[in-house]
This record gives sequence, C-alpha cells and structure tokens, in this order.
Amino acid sequence: MKVFVTRPVFDEAIDRLRRVFEVELNTEERILPKQELIAHLRDKDGALTLLTDAIDLEVLESTPRLKVIANFAVGFNNVAVDSATKLGVVVTNTPGVLTETTADFAWTLLMAVARRLSEGEALARSGNWKHWDLDQLVGTDVWGKTLGIVGFGRIGRAVARRASGFQMKVIYTDAQRVPAEVESAMSAEFREMDALLAESDFVSVHVPLLPETRGLFDAAKFYRMKPTAFLINTSRGPVVDEAALVAALETGKIAGAGLDVYENEPFIHPGLKRANVVLAPHIASASLETRTKMACIAAENVVALFTGQRPANVLNPEVLKTS
Ligand code: DGY
Repeated sequence: MKVFVTRPVFDEAIDRLRRVFEVELNTEERILPKQELIAHLRDKDGALTLLTDAIDLEVLESTPRLKVIANFAVGFNNVAVDSATKLGVVVTNTPGVLTETTADFAWTLLMAVARRLSEGEALARSGNWKHWDLDQLVGTDVWGKTLGIVGFGRIGRAVARRASGFQMKVIYTDAQRVPAEVESAMSAEFREMDALLAESDFVSVHVPLLPETRGLFDAAKFYRMKPTAFLINTSRGPVVDEAALVAALETGKIAGAGLDVYENEPFIHPGLKRANVVLAPHIASASLETRTKMACIAAENVVALFTGQRPANVLNPEVLKTS
C-alpha cells in the first residue's frame, strides 16, 4: 500500500505510516498545484492532506486507486466529501485534540483586541514611547461583559468555559439548542442569532464552513451588533463577508475584530489592516503539542482503515457500510 503526504509534517506521524506503508512525502514547503497533486496521488491508496489542498471532484475522479483522504484539520471544507462518498473514498478529520488549543487562541485574540495589545506592542518596540499617560491606549474591559458564542460545538463550549474566570455572562446560538443540563453546566443561555448579536460585547464564531454558513456574517449581522462590540473569528474566513466587515469597521458599526482566518487565505483584505483589528495567520491550533497530535491522528486514521479497524474520525461512514 502506498500513501502520499502532501506537505512536511511531524516525524512521529511519518514514522507511524512507514511502519505499515510505502510513504511518499512532499518535502517542499509549497502547496502542490492540482495537476501535480493528481500526479502524486494516482498510484496511491491513501493521502494525508492539509486544509490548503483542494480535494475536489476532478482530483478524486483522477485517482481511482485512492481509498482514504485523511485531512489534518477538524475543518474539511477543502475536501468534496459528497463526491468522495459517491466514489467510495473514506474521508477523515482530526477533531477533539485541537479544541482547547483553539479556544485558548480565540481568547488570545479577544483579549488582544479589547486591550489593544498589537498597538501597545508596536509602541513599546518603536522607541517612540515617551512617557506613561492616563489615557494611553485605553481599551475596553473584558471581565464582566457578555460573550456571545455562535456555534456551540466542542470549540464554542471550550471558549464559553473560559469565560467564568472573567465573570462574564455567556449566551450562545446554534442550529439546535443544547439540553438544559448542558446549558446549566456551562452557565450559558440560548439566544436566537439577532438577540445574541444585539446583546453581546464579544461575538466569537465557531461554526463549520458549510453552504449555509458561507457569508453568515454579512452587513445585516454587523448592523445588529453593538457599536462597542468585537467580532472574533477562529473558524473559517468565508463565514464572514470580509467586504461587509471592512465596511462595518470603517463606519464604526462595530468596535473591532480579532481574526485568525480569512476569505481567501493567505490574502488579507487591506481594509482589515487597521489598528482596531488583531490579525493572525490561521494559527489557532498551532501549539507543538496539538499539531503533533493532529498529525498522529491523521496517520492513525489511515493505518486503521488498511488494518481492518474502523478509523476514529470518519466523516462519511456510509462508505464503510458499503465496502
Ligand atoms: C482546523 O483544524 O480546521 C484548523 O483550522 C487548523 O487546525
């Protein structure tokens, strides 16, 4: 069996694969263009892919030997899962292990934008800091405010849990309300989206990118937010209509944003490069511990499939039933 790994990853994962498969590795730090990717995948039984690899219908149809796509991410919008299912290709992701790390980073952005950390750091490093001032870089308090979570899955809940230390009120919205015991254990109250936007001081987004969440945060949503509120996005860029966000920031419809993800990564809309926006390059899960675990889980998913076990994180289990 042959497995292709589309970008350099941690040795632990490669070693695990090498114990079972013949492994071919793209050792270059570049995203392979589609035709190159197809050329590598044509004679492979499995692939370990990153969120930067677009595994669409053309790729899948051109690689009939492929039986599994193990994506190194919890998000899987880069893989045409429906097409993979029709073609009998198992798709797996890496949920769970990155929950706490990603939640930490949503808070990093939240705190940084509220307390103007990027501006403060720039001033501290510039050599232009002349003296302490009472109103220098005054931000806004985080503690005691209202945190609105959009998408109350694993990561949304982990973000919510951290709010208790800040004595915050937590409200959430999701397609489905969670059971009352969960709400009470999390001290979180359900709100419809519009009510959540009107009430929150910080809105943190944790929905997957799906056709129904693409452009979820549009001009109408920003219009409903408080002019003192901040948007935090660690989910997927296209969940937010960036042009609408820029307009909302420019016209003071919202106070600022903390962003880790963008509509067309790695491009960042110039209108987002503002003092009241904290920008990060899609690193919410990027701790050494977590990224290593993600790589190992992806490798383990491929090993499981070819050694007669059920991979732990299958996105299209119907393929396993029919094979
Ligand atoms: C994911 O897993 O989907 C993140 O965006 C990268 O870790």
